[in-house]
Amino acid sequence: MEGTYVGSIDQGTTGTRFMVFDHSGEVVGNAYEKHEQIYPEPGWVEHNPVEIWENTKAVVTAGLADADLDASQLAGIGITNQRETTIVWDAESGKPIHNALVWQDRRTTDRVEELEADGKIDGIRAKTGLEADAYFSATKTEWILDNAEPLKLQSSRAQNLRERARDGELLMGTIDSWLIYNLTGEHVTDVTNASRTMLFDIHEMAWDDDLVAEFDIPEEMLPEVRPSSDEEYYGHTDPEGFLGAEVPVAGALGDQQAALFGQTCFDAGDAKNTYGTGSFYLMNTGNEAVESDHGLLTTVGFQMSGEPVQYALEGSIFITGAAIEWLEDVDLIDNAAQTAELARSVDSTDGVYMVPAFTGLGAPHWDGRARGTIVGMTRGTRKAHIVRATLEAIAYQTRDIAEAMEADSGVETTSLRVDGGAVKNDFLCQLQADILQTDIARPEVDETTALGSAYAAGLAVGYWDTIDELRSNWQIDREFEAEMDAEEADRMYGRWDDAVERSLDWARE
Ligand code: G3P
Repeated sequence: MEGTYVGSIDQGTTGTRFMVFDHSGEVVGNAYEKHEQIYPEPGWVEHNPVEIWENTKAVVTAGLADADLDASQLAGIGITNQRETTIVWDAESGKPIHNALVWQDRRTTDRVEELEADGKIDGIRAKTGLEADAYFSATKTEWILDNAEPLKLQSSRAQNLRERARDGELLMGTIDSWLIYNLTGEHVTDVTNASRTMLFDIHEMAWDDDLVAEFDIPEEMLPEVRPSSDEEYYGHTDPEGFLGAEVPVAGALGDQQAALFGQTCFDAGDAKNTYGTGSFYLMNTGNEAVESDHGLLTTVGFQMSGEPVQYALEGSIFITGAAIEWLEDVDLIDNAAQTAELARSVDSTDGVYMVPAFTGLGAPHWDGRARGTIVGMTRGTRKAHIVRATLEAIAYQTRDIAEAMEADSGVETTSLRVDGGAVKNDFLCQLQADILQTDIARPEVDETTALGSAYAAGLAVGYWDTIDELRSNWQIDREFEAEMDAEEADRMYGRWDDAVERSLDWARE
């Protein structure tokens, strides 16, 4: 083990990171690169998969240089990724036939409403654990197969895309599959990513024939589904390729499940909330797939080689960190770090509430037509009030989820583990503890997403022996306790619902 490390590729919504970890879970190398966000029409969001692959190679190379390591010193590589984002590519050339449709993309909302009108929602929830929504990969894959222009891309084979997929000429995958394919040549995905496609039966742990037929997605184009930590390895990197070494690729998890794993939430009842572009609050429910009556998703938490699946309940909040980015876009702030100071400069929002429903609302409302709203402004409203209202919105959305989680699971979370870029902000962490009336535990390694997939790969290759060995790597940086009294927290949260009501269904023509 001396002189060996585990690498993790963390391919997120805004950029790609490569991190190298040592045996104690410490970061020894790190590199990051952003990619372009493509907005062809309002509500549409795309990424260029080729750019993502090029950036992946660049950050892996730069991350190894940062750690002063050779690729042959990597015992294994894990992948973690923005989930649901969908790519279809040509098996022969390896070229995508269309840009990736990003998880935030709302172009298939009409199709979801059709499913609703046809009474198909309950059946979808029963099998997949998901609330039917344009968020997931099923309607995105269907859209690509209906709309990508084969003539432009494959002039010699102007054939129906579905026929080509049936003949094994086209492959579909989420970002994990795309990266594993490019790294190893294998077409696989892990159980957590499969569980976000709305094509996968999380009880049978298999692609579902009825759903595959509903969206007319040829099963031949779907990846093989494997455990998140796989002792049989997904494949090896090509020694003739960019890395110049044969390294096992042996672990993959969607980024939110990776954070759950990296936060060592291995037992039923353990919960974490990650504050990235959006926020994703997951609670491990053990081997039981707990159904939600309160707008949460039932999803796969992780699966270790040869072991049963561990499930999770998830509250997916689409916009939290992205609301801070928006403040920057409209020049209310110069950078995210300013938000704490501005928010502290006023005692309250003076009655202003901001609902950042820029891409509809996810859990627990699931309204693809909700839109961003600011209410309660007066002539005296200043930018500090709007900034404070934006931070409060992050905390209120999390309370929406915490309440639903408690109602569904019967478990009261007394200490919530947090991670993601925004938790560097002490003001936000304190506010979150106040609004939730729950302790907020911030760990020392805040890149728990990358750490989670490194753990998955490292366990598969025997770099770590057991998950128990990993628990001691989790160290607390700071714990925030509620300072506000419960009545005041309830009063502030009370009006949040009214503000949300005003944002719902806004975009219906
Ligand atoms: O479900 C979407 C989620 O996986 C995106 O995460 O961190 O890339 O915003 P992030």
